[in-house]
Amino acid sequence: MRVAVTGASGFVGGAVCRELVARGARVHAYGRRAAVRAEHVADARYRSWDLARGPLDPAPSVDVVVHCAGSVTDWGPIPGFFEVNLDGTRNALASFPGTRFVHVSTASVYDPYRPTVMATEDEAPVRRYVNAYGASKAAAERAVLKSGAESVILRPHAVYGPGDTTLLPRVEASVRGPFLFAVGTGRQRISLTSVGNLVRACVLACERPGVSGVFNVTDAEPVVLDDALAVILAERGIEAERIYLPAGPALRLAAVVEGLHLLAGARRPPRLTRYALGHLAVERTLDLTAARTRLGYRPEPTSFAGAYSW
Ligand SMILES: NC(=O)c1ccc[n+]([C@@H]2O[C@H](COP(=O)([O-])OP(=O)(O)OC[C@H]3O[C@@H](n4cnc5c(N)ncnc54)[C@H](OP(=O)(O)O)[C@@H]3O)[C@@H](O)[C@H]2O)c1
Repeated sequence: MRVAVTGASGFVGGAVCRELVARGARVHAYGRRAAVRAEHVADARYRSWDLARGPLDPAPSVDVVVHCAGSVTDWGPIPGFFEVNLDGTRNALASFPGTRFVHVSTASVYDPYRPTVMATEDEAPVRRYVNAYGASKAAAERAVLKSGAESVILRPHAVYGPGDTTLLPRVEASVRGPFLFAVGTGRQRISLTSVGNLVRACVLACERPGVSGVFNVTDAEPVVLDDALAVILAERGIEAERIYLPAGPALRLAAVVEGLHLLAGARRPPRLTRYALGHLAVERTLDLTAARTRLGYRPEPTSFAGAYSW
C-alpha cells in the first residue's frame, strides 16, 4: 500500500507514519518544517510542503492519503486557522484527486456550549464554536464531504501518548505548587483518545476501501476526570491536591483573561482559555458504535503507562 501522510512532522502524523512503515506500507511523509529526525517517520521519505500555499506539485501516486496536518492550538489569528485547516485540507484533496482520503478531524466539532453526552456522529458540525480551531475543523469536514472523494473522517478527543504536545503538558502546567486546578465537579466523564488507538483507526481506515463516513475515535470507555488526573499525576511522580473550581465563574474569568490578552496584543496564548476549560469542565463523551461496527475498531482502554516515554 502506498500512503501519503500529511502532518508527519507532528505528534499524530509521526505515529501514523511509524505504524504504516512497520506494516510494510510505502509512506510519503509531509510536514511544513524543512526536515525531521529520520526515526520520527521511521525512515519514510519526508518532504516539506506548506499546505496553505497550494497543492503539492508533483504529487506521487498513492492509494490513500492520511491527512493529519492542522493548526492545533486554541489561540491565534482567525485567518491562520482557516488557511491551514480549511484551505490546507482543500489543497490536500486537490493534490491527490480521486484518492481515498482519511481526514483526522476532532471532537471539537461538537457543540462546545453544552455537554457532549455519548454523542453520535450526526450531532456535528454545529453552527457555533468558541474559537477558530473548532470552526475551521468543522469547515474542513464539510469540504471533505463536498469534494466527493471516498473519505473517512475520524473524530478523536484529547489525544495523549508518547510525544503529546497538548493534553499531558497542559495538565502539568495546571499544577501550581501543591495544587492542581481543574474545573467542574471532577466527576464528569470524559472520552480520551490514546495516540495508539487513533493510529489503529487510521490504519483501519486505510485498509478498508469501500468503507466511508464519519467516525468518533476514543479509548474503549470514558473515564472520570478526577480518576484520570490522579493517574496522570502519579505517573509523573507529582504530588498535588486536585482542586475543582465551579465551571461558570471559571469560564467567565477565562473570557476576561482572553479579552485582556487581545487588548494587550500579546502573541503568546493566555494561560486560561474558554476552549481549554470547556474541553474538560463538563461531560465530553462520544459514542463508538459506528467505528466498532463499520470500521472494525477495537480500542484499548485508557492508559497513561509509557505516555511520557517519547
Ligand atoms: N492533539 C490532540 O489532542 C488532537 C485532538 C483531536 C484532533 N486532533 C487532530 O489531529 C491532527 C494532528 O494533530 P497533532 O496533535 O499531531 O498536532 P501537531 O503535533 O501540532 O502536528 C500538526 C502537524 O501539522 C503540520 N502543519 C501545520 N501547519 C501546516 C501547514 N501550513 N502546512 C503543512 N503542514 C502543516 C505540522 O507541521 P510542522 O510541525 O512541520 O509545522 C505538524 O506536522 C490535527 O488535524 C488535529 O486537529 C488532535
